[in-house]
Amino acid sequence: MTHVIVALPGDGIGPEVIAAAVEVLKWCGRHHGLELEVRTFPAGGTALERYGDPLPDFVLAACREADAILVGAAGDSRFDSNPARMRPEQALLRLRKELGLYTNLRPVKTHPSLLDTSPFKKSIIENVDIMIVRELTGGIYFGEPRGTERRSGVRCAYNMEIYHDYEIERIARVAFQLAGERSRLVTSVDKSNVMESSLLWRTVVEEVALEYPGVELEHMLVDNCSMQLISRPRHFDVLLSTNLFGDILSDEAAVLAGSIGLLPSASLGAPAEGVRKGLYEPVHGTAPDIAGRGQANPLAAISSVALMFRYSLGREDIARRIDAAVETCLLQGHRTADLVSAGEGAMGTRAMAARVLEALEVGL
Ligand code: IPM
Ligand code: MG
Repeated sequence: MTHVIVALPGDGIGPEVIAAAVEVLKWCGRHHGLELEVRTFPAGGTALERYGDPLPDFVLAACREADAILVGAAGDSRFDSNPARMRPEQALLRLRKELGLYTNLRPVKTHPSLLDTSPFKKSIIENVDIMIVRELTGGIYFGEPRGTERRSGVRCAYNMEIYHDYEIERIARVAFQLAGERSRLVTSVDKSNVMESSLLWRTVVEEVALEYPGVELEHMLVDNCSMQLISRPRHFDVLLSTNLFGDILSDEAAVLAGSIGLLPSASLGAPAEGVRKGLYEPVHGTAPDIAGRGQANPLAAISSVALMFRYSLGREDIARRIDAAVETCLLQGHRTADLVSAGEGAMGTRAMAARVLEALEVGL
């Protein structure tokens, strides 16, 4: 049986980190006797430039057929003044929506070997292990109406935060199930002191909680959560949030791990016949300041491949092996530029990827 993986390197540092991740993917295929076929397509600004569409139909069709999708990053400031649907980021948003990938998992862990280089005190960030569960196909990202208008000579623009009960229900179930396999605490984040959509969120999460008596539920207002995340991050186990709040809190949480260059993510749809199609991407964006220089940290993209083996390809053993290789590299002191202080030497993307492949070999 052949697994078809679609790679969308995209923009900025995307192509560099995806090249590294695909090497690791192929290594795992070879060493574990898996038939993996990697098909690469343009997406984001790259596709917009060539085809006038950030996600051309043939690319979307290829993604529909794939078992899993590996994305680099989408974004390009040259298209900043384009209308929303003609921006590079639209490639990601459409993929999420069209493929029904409503679950976004963003694990955030601190690495023992990076504690000293963190801007946080060691005592605060030691042993942090948070699973962010972000709703990914609803809320203000997709709510209608949206638009820009002139009303009585005044310019105005608007978006709509809207949640339906079934959208909240299904993402809450994911959070409770995961918490049941972890430390049994779900922190649900909302702004129910101001927003109706948050009140519904809170109500539905409470209803779902009744199905999981073994898991504790707490609610936290998003402003408070943004503070708690960095003042007592060890408190959290599973952090459940809306599309917009999850976007913001996951960037904040990335600082706990040492660098956003380390964080992978998985976007999943509903399981169908035991298979869960998924889109895997590093949390970091295009990093235009270092794009094309071979300096980007490939570990987030490589860890995203681990998540792909875990959630879409049913190979927890390979996922753990990749995680262990990444941990080994960090323990051995290998560092890309995002992980060193100014003035210290750093290795490039390819060198780091080579170290990961070595660690995988040694792990045999
Ligand atoms: C993310 C990104 C995207 C988002 C952008 C690129 C549309 O920030 O995946 O977190 O806001 O979801
Ligand atoms: Mg984001």
